Amino acid sequence: MNTAFGIIILAAGKGTRMKSSKAKVLHTLAGRPLIDHVIATAGLLVDEKHVVVVVGHQADQVKEVAGCRFSGRFAFQKEQKGTGHAVQCALPELPAACHDVVILSGDVPLIRKTTIEKLIADHKRQGNDVTILGVCLQNPHGYGRLVQNQSGDVEKIVEEADATESEKRIQNVNAGIYCVNTLFLEESLAAAMPDNNQNEIYLTDIVAIARRSQKKIGLNICENPGEVMGVNTLQDLLNLESMLNS
Ligand code: UD1
Ligand code: CA
Repeated sequence: MNTAFGIIILAAGKGTRMKSSKAKVLHTLAGRPLIDHVIATAGLLVDEKHVVVVVGHQADQVKEVAGCRFSGRFAFQKEQKGTGHAVQCALPELPAACHDVVILSGDVPLIRKTTIEKLIADHKRQGNDVTILGVCLQNPHGYGRLVQNQSGDVEKIVEEADATESEKRIQNVNAGIYCVNTLFLEESLAAAMPDNNQNEIYLTDIVAIARRSQKKIGLNICENPGEVMGVNTLQDLLNLESMLNS
């Protein structure tokens, strides 16, 4: 158990693209709600007292599903103003001892403990302010693209909705999982603005902010794309279910 780390799990979104009345993280994969998969993995990495789950849409139902075996904390995001805003809502709930924080997505259910352990180890060893988990996808549609310079350093993350045609051709994408220095996370989110095509405060903006303020950015490429597949649509969920059964 590593007490210097906290974990924030983002689970407040509506999941509009699911076209379902049920909050996305309540949909089941292998018979268990998506949020349950992610909380279980978080519990393998740190003491649950260092885990904060951000709830918002159908908060009571999500808390009920998550809460039966979960001894961590919940943060409430009243309005879903974006992933960066969700993290801002979680930060006050994070124990002060958490020098660094791993951010997980409630809609990326198959992420493995060992992948996060490697992310944390590299973050520490390299002395990074932010370490991004990325993946190379044949079809990157829908994911934030990693804009890298010639040396491979990540300069920014561009969301599909804001990407130029050439950025859309980038196949290295953001898995939505990061390890970040807590102080830097707080400072950079305070500087993040909803000046994008979705009018949201993007968590991904902390990368460009890190770049501007000469912070150290690391990238870990996950070799197993299945593990970091996000669930945005019912079809995504069916695809994961059939992947598990194959
Ligand atoms: C996000 C990333 C994208 C990445 C992808 C990986 C941002 C801006 N984009 O996009 O770069 O490639 O994940 O899967 O972060 N949520 C909240 N509150 C909000 C909005 C979202 O808690 O206000 C939660 C959702 O419940 C979900 C997670 O955050 O669990 C991700 O949100 P989602 O809208 O699915 O982000 P993506 O568009 O997939
Ligand atoms: Ca998603």
